[in-house]
Amino acid sequence: MTDRPMSNRIPSPDFSYAGRTLRAERLPLPDVAAEIGTPFYCYSLAGLTRSYRALEAALAGLAGLPATICYALKANSNQAVIAAFAQLGAGADVVSGGELRRALAAGIPADRIVFSGVGKTRDEIALALRSGIRQINVESEAELDLISAAATEAGVTARVSLRINPDVDARTHDKISTGRKQDKFGIAIGRTLPAYARAADLPNLTPAGLAMHIGSQLLDVAPYRAAFGRLAEQVRALRAAGHEVTSLDLGGGVGITYRDEAPPRFEDYAAVVRETVGGLGCELVFEPGRSLVGNAGILVARVLYVKDGGIRPIAVVDAAMNDLARPAMYDAYHAIVPVTQPQNSPDWVEMDVVGPICESGDTFAVARRLPPLVPGDLVAFGSAGAYGSVMSSAYNSRPPAPEVLVSGARLAVVRARQTVDDLIRQESVPDWLGSA
Ligand code: LLP
Repeated sequence: MTDRPMSNRIPSPDFSYAGRTLRAERLPLPDVAAEIGTPFYCYSLAGLTRSYRALEAALAGLAGLPATICYALKANSNQAVIAAFAQLGAGADVVSGGELRRALAAGIPADRIVFSGVGKTRDEIALALRSGIRQINVESEAELDLISAAATEAGVTARVSLRINPDVDARTHDKISTGRKQDKFGIAIGRTLPAYARAADLPNLTPAGLAMHIGSQLLDVAPYRAAFGRLAEQVRALRAAGHEVTSLDLGGGVGITYRDEAPPRFEDYAAVVRETVGGLGCELVFEPGRSLVGNAGILVARVLYVKDGGIRPIAVVDAAMNDLARPAMYDAYHAIVPVTQPQNSPDWVEMDVVGPICESGDTFAVARRLPPLVPGDLVAFGSAGAYGSVMSSAYNSRPPAPEVLVSGARLAVVRARQTVDDLIRQESVPDWLGSA
């Protein structure tokens, strides 16, 4: 993880310097830090809006096929973020009953919600059916039986799509690849026809089509071309066998720039969609997460200490792996920049940036080139809008960080800072503990 100096910048126009001060849109971040304390997540409404509109525009050119953008809540399920997308016209991709309730609470219409996930419980399925969502993406043949039984009991017909595992390598991080045959997701592609036939035969089920999601943070469209091509073959085979196929859900996964990656442009992605499935006449569903929110958010922290490490200086900040787990989990790179640039351009130095948690994995960056930091300085972690706050925990009894949303010069706290009292209150000591 040795860094090229030029890449240590936040890859988003919504977080840029005015003079020496980093701002979120028009708000100076030191002011936000003074108001709500550190660490905190900060999202830009302009950033969320721009990425959504860009994807919408790219998909609008898709040969007249109706396309629904179902924002993947798992990337960032703050109510304000979901509500912002709801107002832009988005649907939602949810993977739990909890996410389904969040989507509905934030104003996403039920008929624009798709429910994915390998392990839906009967209660979650019943909730989805009661809510009248657009479709359930089914990941196993046993799940078909369960949905049929739940739909029969509820007296409704469930619209389902079969998530197919195409056995295509998305060429991304091993832990976020989902479309290889060894991965736990979807129905093996060889089983498409019998599974679809079973869905068609079961009571109170209507198979609408197929779904697919091959992985996350894809930096190349070639795996999409391969996977969507296989999906198209399955559609033709199903139709040849007399089945109706009207809907294709192509998942998410388009990557973003964290450092100096050049992810596919939405137009290039849309071109592959058109080329592979464009002629099938199906309505299309997309499930983007990271590409809509990743670069619309940052994490701001304060430097607590700078000490001489055995090799180089170590800056200890007040955010940790419980706040932003990606570096510890996936060796992920996030830009780290000073919120206030030093006055007389001192030479940059290589520093390690670490959190206070008691394990060596709580390291955000090794040998990162930064202006020499001193205690009290604020730093911002770039590209933290996706899989940041949602993956936070209270490890080391550190309450998860608050979240703010900025629009122009307006600020709103959209998730309050939790307290240690909140954590303790959720637990209890049995009254028999210590009794004889
Ligand atoms: N649809 C399904 C079925 C998914 O499993 C996912 C992500 C998405 C859509 C959205 O993918 P996106 O457009 O965000 O790439 N925590 C990891 C990423 C896990 C992604 C899980 N599935 C990370 O921090 O990189």
